[in-house]
Amino acid sequence: INTVVFQNSTEASKAVAQEIAAVIKSKQEKNESCILGLATGSSPKGLYAELVRLHKEEGLSFKNVITFNLDEYYPMQPDSINSYVRFMKELLLDQVDILPQNYHIPDGTLSKEEIANYCADYEAKIEALGGIDLQILGIGGNGHIGFNESGSLQNSKTRLVALDHITRVAASGDFSGLSNTPRTAITLGVKKIMEAKQVILMAWGEGKSNIIQKSVEGEVTNLIPASFLQEHNNAVFILDKEASSKLT
Ligand code: F6R
Repeated sequence: INTVVFQNSTEASKAVAQEIAAVIKSKQEKNESCILGLATGSSPKGLYAELVRLHKEEGLSFKNVITFNLDEYYPMQPDSINSYVRFMKELLLDQVDILPQNYHIPDGTLSKEEIANYCADYEAKIEALGGIDLQILGIGGNGHIGFNESGSLQNSKTRLVALDHITRVAASGDFSGLSNTPRTAITLGVKKIMEAKQVILMAWGEGKSNIIQKSVEGEVTNLIPASFLQEHNNAVFILDKEASSKLT
């Protein structure tokens, strides 16, 4: 995996925003849609702020952009304070000129019986558009990508998953306690992530340094799903100094 290290996450986020803008514009020139895979969590916040700035101050248009988010808690109401729908609308989608029919975030309101068909349809939509052009990822402390937790297979599909204890603990602050934190989520599978034409994983801070070292320099193992990216032909880890500090 290529790694690029920046002084800090602000500089790194600006560079990722430039990369995304370049892909959007090159697609615009060809009159094509740009299919972006998006993540939530703390890592992409600076990226979304910079994309909003590029839209408002530099005229970057999202009219040709179609997005698919990685995941959503289950169950989850879209207007809930902790929903990824709300996160995405507030930080990016409502602030740019993307068409409402062009963004997709897994639906946390389905009945259990509906989930399998919904997930197959989510993947079919991505396939019908020719796949994801650029996938943005964060990384969990356990090496998860999306909510593909430790043990997820490289060919795993979009599905309902049980969240690891460590993932729930990380989220528990947002839910005012572990007992209120969802136990399950819908996540894009590893297979669709690996099929993306380009992958950019972002990680900031000392707390991510151990898992970054294992993902980049350790063996490829389903115990650390981010390590699968070693086998992707166009994946880069964008890091700040602290997150890169354990790399040899
Ligand atoms: C979020 C997602 C997760 C996060 C990961 C890191 O959509 O898919 O894999 O990217 O848990 O979260 P942060 O960025 O909050 O450290």
